[in-house]
Amino acid sequence: MLLFINACVRSCSRTKRLADRLLTELGGADKELKLGEIKFPVTDESYLRMRDRLIAGGEFCHEALKYAREFAAADTIVIAAPYWDLSFPAQLKEYIEKICVIGVTFGYTEDGQRIGLCKAKRLYYVTTSGGRIESEEFGFGYIKYLAQSFYGIEECVQFRAEGLDLIGADAEAILKKAEKEITEHFKR
Ligand SMILES: Cc1cc2nc3c(=O)[nH]c(=O)nc-3n(C[C@H](O)[C@H](O)[C@H](O)COP(=O)(O)O)c2cc1C
Repeated sequence: MLLFINACVRSCSRTKRLADRLLTELGGADKELKLGEIKFPVTDESYLRMRDRLIAGGEFCHEALKYAREFAAADTIVIAAPYWDLSFPAQLKEYIEKICVIGVTFGYTEDGQRIGLCKAKRLYYVTTSGGRIESEEFGFGYIKYLAQSFYGIEECVQFRAEGLDLIGADAEAILKKAEKEITEHFKR
């Protein structure tokens, strides 16, 4: 099952354009989550208490944990997110808060070692930026660290097109080059 997590906001999203090329290479998505259309419950104290109760009671089939279950069961993950404020849109962070569930996406061994519980071997992250991607720490880097150290998804690949809004930039040429890079990646 290929899970496509779409955090693109604009109808003319260039990030979505690159993601579409990637999805074509991967044979299409089985499930798309358009994060902008999902009203996630606020992660407030009552939500946390409810979640703790579900986890303590082993009620992992509860509706509130469905995003975590779906993420854990996917074979391949594709995340598309524009580079916003050195990071990504807040909806993606909201989604992450919903899928980081102990006992579903990650767990701990008896001696306290964290182990990933996700099935996916590979996660692809697609992004585009107006300027240069100054730091990956809060965007792809953060997702990659979570994937590898929490979820147990070892291989994380980023495709990106940057500098699209810089003065004099040929955005179309930059996007075409990034699309070509995606295609080339799968010829290897
Ligand atoms: C709210 C917002 C924040 C942004 N922050 C950055 C930024 O920190 N650095 C940057 O280079 N571009 C930034 N941009 C520009 C976008 O990264 C760029 O236009 C990107 O290609 C948009 O992707 P999209 O076409 O998929 O919507 C920002 C754009 C928006 C709307």
